[in-house]
Amino acid sequence: MTSRRTPSSRDRDQAPTQAPRVEFEDTTPYDAYVRASTLATLQRTATDEPGEYMFLVVSQVMELYFNLIAFEWRTAQRFLREDKLGEALLALRRSNDHFTALNASWVSFRWMTPPDFNAFREALGEASGFQSFLYRHVEFLLGFKDAALLRPHKHVAGSHYDELVAAFEAPSLYDDALAYLARRGYDVPTAALDRDHAITYEHIDAVEDVWVQVYADTSHGDPLRAFAESLTDIAEQFSDWRYRHLMAVRRAMGAKVGSGGSAGLAWLERSLLRQAFPELWSARTRI
Ligand code: HEM
Repeated sequence: MTSRRTPSSRDRDQAPTQAPRVEFEDTTPYDAYVRASTLATLQRTATDEPGEYMFLVVSQVMELYFNLIAFEWRTAQRFLREDKLGEALLALRRSNDHFTALNASWVSFRWMTPPDFNAFREALGEASGFQSFLYRHVEFLLGFKDAALLRPHKHVAGSHYDELVAAFEAPSLYDDALAYLARRGYDVPTAALDRDHAITYEHIDAVEDVWVQVYADTSHGDPLRAFAESLTDIAEQFSDWRYRHLMAVRRAMGAKVGSGGSAGLAWLERSLLRQAFPELWSARTRI
């Protein structure tokens, strides 16, 4: 169990007039920790267009959130495997709050008209968010698996490709949720428990039955329903991200072909239809 720091005398015995320290022999402790000076070197735009600067900054912000959300889901998976539902729920709740902040970032794109986007679009070359390995990691944790989507990342620097392959082959968050329900005595079918994790999760009728049972248990404050609702929130937030992305694309470039080589809008509309955690949605018709 990790211990939490309790208030020390430094926290308690402050004079209300005491001002923050302003002299440092080296860089500030803040910069040593946050690395803002390094962060500020990472926005290397190819043009002077304000749209490009915003595009790059918001893309980087989103990448950081993808990583943070994946971290929370891996934490939740670890706790589920240890049968610690309460701790897993806290991690899922945090991830949902992060998702709300992530999705709010799309507001920065609302002003962008096609001429604003055209002003720097050529400078992006073939770069496309489709090539984001952190986004792909998030999709793998949600159970969307397609081996072809590993290929673009083979030569990415560092250990990212190996981590992505590991996430591709490992159980998704939903796989761990179903395994947990099975250990709690629910009749989760072997088709869900023993499946090949490197394949996209598809709807299974008997899993729908399990969620119907979870929601049928109306005992006051049942944590399993809270669990089901947290997972539902995640699936909805992810669809929100996709929808807001789609609308930003529609506003900025209409139905033009994407820089990553796809049909653009039509391709994104198709992926919007794919729903994470399918039985949590289909079960609702029967509840
Ligand atoms: C006006 C802004 C944007 C436009 C016009 C745009 C355009 C597109 C297009 C056309 C695609 C389809 C693949 C392709 O052919 O390129 C795509 C995919 C994608 N974009 Fe964007 N994008 C924008 C902003 C962003 C931002 C800020 C992010 C954040 C990282 C992002 C992340 C993604 C991801 C992850 C995909 C792959 C989605 C999937 O695989 O289902 N995009 N984008």
